[in-house]
Amino acid sequence: MPRVRHGVIWSRISGRPGKMGDLVLTGQETSFTYTREWLASGQPGFCLLGDGSIWGESSVTYPVSERIPVFPRLLSLIPGNNPRNLQRRHYLDLLRRQTGREPPPGMETEWQLMLLGGHGGIGHIDVFADDLTAQQWYRHQPPKAPPRSQSRNAQSELWRMIKHEVLDEATDFDPQIIEEALGPTPSVGGMIPKLLVSIDPDTKTPRFHPPDTPGERNVVLKIEPPEYTGLLDLEALCLQVHRDAGFTTPRWWRIDHGDLRLLAVERFDRRDGRPLPMESLFSVIATGDHHFRETADILLEELGGVIDRLGQIARLPADANEHLYRRFLMALLTGNGDLHLENLSLLGGLDDCRWAPVYDPAPMRAWPRHDLVSAIPFDASEYTDHGEFFIALGEHFGLSSQQTERCIEAALDATADYATRVMALKKVPKRQREQLQAIAQHERELLQQHLRE
Ligand SMILES: Nc1ncnc2c1ncn2[C@@H]1O[C@H](COP(=O)(O)OP(=O)(O)OP(=O)(O)O)[C@@H](O)[C@H]1O
Ligand SMILES: [Mg+2]
Repeated sequence: MPRVRHGVIWSRISGRPGKMGDLVLTGQETSFTYTREWLASGQPGFCLLGDGSIWGESSVTYPVSERIPVFPRLLSLIPGNNPRNLQRRHYLDLLRRQTGREPPPGMETEWQLMLLGGHGGIGHIDVFADDLTAQQWYRHQPPKAPPRSQSRNAQSELWRMIKHEVLDEATDFDPQIIEEALGPTPSVGGMIPKLLVSIDPDTKTPRFHPPDTPGERNVVLKIEPPEYTGLLDLEALCLQVHRDAGFTTPRWWRIDHGDLRLLAVERFDRRDGRPLPMESLFSVIATGDHHFRETADILLEELGGVIDRLGQIARLPADANEHLYRRFLMALLTGNGDLHLENLSLLGGLDDCRWAPVYDPAPMRAWPRHDLVSAIPFDASEYTDHGEFFIALGEHFGLSSQQTERCIEAALDATADYATRVMALKKVPKRQREQLQAIAQHERELLQQHLRE
């Protein structure tokens, strides 16, 4: 009989910490039960389709699997299992010190990692082992900036830690000092190493503070690994291209520090110091469809229907489908084959649900191993090529042919000088720039050719 594990979810969405409910995980199933107080408050639940207004006093349940061992919404609170994930390394070190043994791979360790790093992260929910741990943690929130004398030492340790972990430099560092300065930084998803911190991005060498430190900006700090040289310059360019095209984007800062390249992106899951609900499309789909386990389990042409169905439960903007179609066109024309379901998120609860600003628009097709038209599969077998498919896709998003045409014209306009702008990024390796230029030109030609037909 597998061990039953317990946890609790709290949230500061009202401005004050409050308990949302109790979490249980058994071998096959996870369940969540709201507290009566939370239900009475009418505040958003832990995820859109698990909202208290739908489930009431009944427990929300989900059949877990190796691929999704917790509620899909909680996945982003477990540090990603890739060798450069800073949080995973840090928490595994903590677990090693706490237990005096090597954490065994599997569910038990994943659960422990979620309890260690699953608070203060992206969105409005905080997971803890129990209520006492939650109360203790909130007592130190928001954090105060560390005293200057101690923090100078800790700051240089932090830079050394990043160099050690991301650039593979053989510098020694003391994890204890980092923990004192930042605490365990919250988990955050994605492939590129990153930290959730607060900084003043306008200073030459920013000092790191824990998230939500008063007077500092909350950012997702992405750190460029050597295997993706040039990535953050390209990502910053694509943020700019989306902003110029009229999409909402967060503010960002490209920062160089010695050999380190950083991109600080302002967090949009906070407003006036309060966390906002944020959930990836992956989580929404997986919560609603228990057979769905990964991005490849759905087709691009099915997403319009998903948004329509979600629109029957949540209040969505009238142009929710059109927005999504425009995002896919921009991805196609900028060489971003990596617009997967974790890179699209919704902000807000059931009553005020809307698309999150653009994040992670990096044109991953610049790297041959990521040169895929779309991470979400599609079936173009009935079309002469995928250009024709992307035009037909408008209809699957419920758009008329005039609307589709307007979206395509706008995306073509917005990316007219994209290849030139890519080529001007001298710090990006020539191979990546040339590959991206060729891809961008090819995709343009395909769309233009079918648009004329
Ligand atoms: N500005 C932001 N505000 C709030 N949340 C953000 C922001 N930027 C990113 N996120 C969250 O952090 C996660 C990881 O960020 P991001 O997608 O940029 O990383 P990545 O490592 O490039 O991802 P991938 O694995 O898709 O390449 C996102 O999925 C999103 O949930
Ligand atoms: Mg991402």
